[in-house]
Amino acid sequence: MKTLLTNIKELLQVRDSAPNKVCGAEMKELPSLKNAWLLLEGDIIKDFGTMGSIISSEVDKTIDCTGKIVLPTWCDSHTHIVYAGNREQEFVDRINGLSYQEIADNGGGILNSAKKLQQTSEEDLFTQSAVRLIEVMKLGTGAIEIKSGYGLTLEAELKMLRVAKRLGETFPVKVKTTFLGAHAVPSEFKDNKQGYLDHICTEMLPKVAEENLADYVDIFCETGYFSVEDTHQLLSEAKKYGLIPKTHVNQFNAIGGVKASVDHQALSVDHLEVITEEDILVLKNSETMPVALPSCSYFLSIPYTPGRKIIDSGLPLALATDYNPGSTPSGNMNFVVATACIKMKLTPEEAINAATINGAYAMGISETHGSITKGKSASVIITKEIPSYSYLPYAFSSNLIDIVIVAGEVV
Ligand code: NIG
Ligand code: FE
Repeated sequence: MKTLLTNIKELLQVRDSAPNKVCGAEMKELPSLKNAWLLLEGDIIKDFGTMGSIISSEVDKTIDCTGKIVLPTWCDSHTHIVYAGNREQEFVDRINGLSYQEIADNGGGILNSAKKLQQTSEEDLFTQSAVRLIEVMKLGTGAIEIKSGYGLTLEAELKMLRVAKRLGETFPVKVKTTFLGAHAVPSEFKDNKQGYLDHICTEMLPKVAEENLADYVDIFCETGYFSVEDTHQLLSEAKKYGLIPKTHVNQFNAIGGVKASVDHQALSVDHLEVITEEDILVLKNSETMPVALPSCSYFLSIPYTPGRKIIDSGLPLALATDYNPGSTPSGNMNFVVATACIKMKLTPEEAINAATINGAYAMGISETHGSITKGKSASVIITKEIPSYSYLPYAFSSNLIDIVIVAGEVV
């Protein structure tokens, strides 16, 4: 199947030989072609150029993109979209004055989601999660990372990861999976966090690895959850199974999770609503991608990750949704890009780089995703007719997407 997109007003993120990530001041540059064409063959980007240089070739389908902008699909490198039920009651409780932490301390939060998930069949979990995946594909997501961490028992964690893998086999979207058994201490191990960590290391990790269910390992390194020492224990153990870390750090407190993660060559450190000078220095001497999750800040009314400062320090930055039932019940990358511009003062170019090529890096797929490059995945967003790409974050709540193509398939 050959699909030709013609008369594209502007083709964004065009990279002949794509870097695996863009850092600091480079993030201000968003290479593009005006009045362009793009040829997709099967699930691959075959070729592109300006309309003046179009070569007539037999194609199965032509899409006229007059007035429209085309860009690579979003790479959402941090989600928890496999979950059961919702937590809208906790949302109402927060409006009425309880804090996110107080709700968690009263048995709500992650443990509430774990109880629901443990009682949900694998088939039902797949059906509920597929609805969310289809929703985000229609919103332009072409690659997604999915974490476990609402199971908190061996069986339930494996169930989550099997569902995540099956989503990737069922839909054209690229899926990467992450084992997040260390998301919270389950009630069975109340007052015995060490016992749970040991259980993760001796029972869960070997099974996850044996069944080849995860690409990455994650831990919620935070006061009241898991400590820096816990992080070292888990990440050292995970390394034996070849699991690279992508961690939850500095959401509420900077307790040293960034350094611990970098010490274990983490692919990414995510959240960073609170970040110290030392964290920035540590990141500068690493290949670890900082990831900001602005819809989480929006929903919980907590500080935004200082993305401006991170980029101005010469570091790269990726943007992701954190789609989950507690802190971010939204998987809309368009909103993430807009919020990064509005609240974190990223330029549209920086935000688009952060949500495409840098997002791809943060999930280990920059070879195949995140830019318009020959041989990469035929995954693109075709916008409606818009005046310029800055209009995307500017008109922050309008749906400006006309067509999404993921791995050559129109969603
Ligand atoms: O990334 N912070 C830890 N985990 C999730 C949310 C957990 C929940 O409330 O269900 C997050 O925000
Ligand atoms: Fe998260």
